[in-house]
Amino acid sequence: MSEFDINISYPTEQTAYAERVKRIILSDGTHTPKACVVTYGCQQNVSDSQRLKGMLSLMGYEICEAQEDADFIIFNTCAVRGHAEDRVWGNVGATKRLKKQNPRLLVAVCGCMVQQQAVADRFRESYPYVDILFGTQVTHRLPEFIYKRLSGGKRIVELALENGEIVEGVPVDREGKFKGYIPIMYGCDNFCTYCIVPYVRGRERSRSADRIIAEVKQMVADGYKEIMLLGQNVNSFGKGNDDGINFAKLLRMVNDVEGDFRIRFMTSHPKDCTEELLDAMRDCEKVERHLHLPFQSGSTKILTAMNRRYTREKYLSLIKSAREKMPDIAFTSDIIVGFPGETYEDFKETLTLVKEVGFASLFTFIYSPREGTPAAVMPDSVTRQEKGKWFDELLRAQDTIQKKYNNEAVGKTVRVLFEEEAPEDGYLIGKSSGTYNIYVKADKSKIGTFADVKINSYNSVLYGTQI
Ligand code: SAH
Ligand code: SF4
Ligand code: F3S
Repeated sequence: MSEFDINISYPTEQTAYAERVKRIILSDGTHTPKACVVTYGCQQNVSDSQRLKGMLSLMGYEICEAQEDADFIIFNTCAVRGHAEDRVWGNVGATKRLKKQNPRLLVAVCGCMVQQQAVADRFRESYPYVDILFGTQVTHRLPEFIYKRLSGGKRIVELALENGEIVEGVPVDREGKFKGYIPIMYGCDNFCTYCIVPYVRGRERSRSADRIIAEVKQMVADGYKEIMLLGQNVNSFGKGNDDGINFAKLLRMVNDVEGDFRIRFMTSHPKDCTEELLDAMRDCEKVERHLHLPFQSGSTKILTAMNRRYTREKYLSLIKSAREKMPDIAFTSDIIVGFPGETYEDFKETLTLVKEVGFASLFTFIYSPREGTPAAVMPDSVTRQEKGKWFDELLRAQDTIQKKYNNEAVGKTVRVLFEEEAPEDGYLIGKSSGTYNIYVKADKSKIGTFADVKINSYNSVLYGTQI
């Protein structure tokens, strides 16, 4: 291990706290203690919630879906847009009533929202029935927090934003049996001017490649068929590690792990998307032919104001280069409409970029001011109603593109992973290595297996048959 190695093992003191919690909650002998984890936000939060569930199981809780059944409820929150936060306030508020029905209920709130001081203060002052509040850097200490509260301690508020360590070996309940996440890096150093993430997730730090490869091998041995490598900006993986392994090299290493499985990754920042990475994608047969490359705006003026550090031309040249290397690649993206100072002319540049690239699908958002970010104090004269009109125009344009994109899929033969039952009886949804979701007649038992499928038709959804 080098002096830069910031990866530490799951502390034994937490395992000891988990044992103590177990003794308390199982002491009554007749009642099975249940815990409910409510998750908002991105895959990083979903992955963190899988660790919360892992720790809760270690403590002896049975994981349940309904809050009414729970003795412990935890809200893992997201702060990225106002809308995400509004839902949390209401839902946490509703636990007051649940506490009246079940006096032993404990309520916790964690995640990105809590990491903002003003939000934490509001929870502390106006939500006295919240027992435990903690931020994004201390998730692994859940057993300690629950023990201290259960054994009669004060309300817990733990917001330290240390950027140092990555705790390895936290128990994880991956839920699905064939698709799984592996976080490879945490935090973000990019400070896009609209975005709260760098403030609530701290500085970028990467896990060691050895740990990641060990986890991939374990998951493949356990039968996983799709592994998603996670980070706010996977392309800057490895900075600060001293083994010289960047993201392109890591992809090749994961690809070399033996077994029949697919590799996805999320998210790539265009400023760090290199030819080396595109070459690695092209060469690695297990890496899906899909690149999620958020461009946010088609106007270089707006991109500069957003501090994205690439231009429209640079973005389009990346797309061109990726297509040359991988003609069948599918692109998806994130877009913000109505950034402060954006005019309709600027917005039209977003529209033309969308049309030029032909994305398989888009995640589109109306700009939401986040307190503490530079954009929140930029003059913003366009009304919400006007922004809504632009937004609808974008959706309509993408709808036409997506229909064309799907129609062009008809006749192709692709390998799919059966992921779930389709709403139509007797059909499963198979996902291609790009982004096609195809309805195929197949037995439920085939979920989690691969099959070759010919795409036959498109009628709102794609239909195909196994060959
Ligand atoms: N790290 C990823 C994105 C994480 S947030 C990246 O850089 O691509 C996911 C998406 O939410 C962003 O891509 C952006 O489109 C959107 N988003 C972030 N902050 C926002 C805000 N203040 N208002 C509206 N959308 C926002
Ligand atoms: Fe936010 Fe930008 Fe970091 Fe993505 S890269 S998390 S949008 S600051
Ligand atoms: Fe939301 Fe935090 Fe993810 S703010 S988008 S849950 S990193």
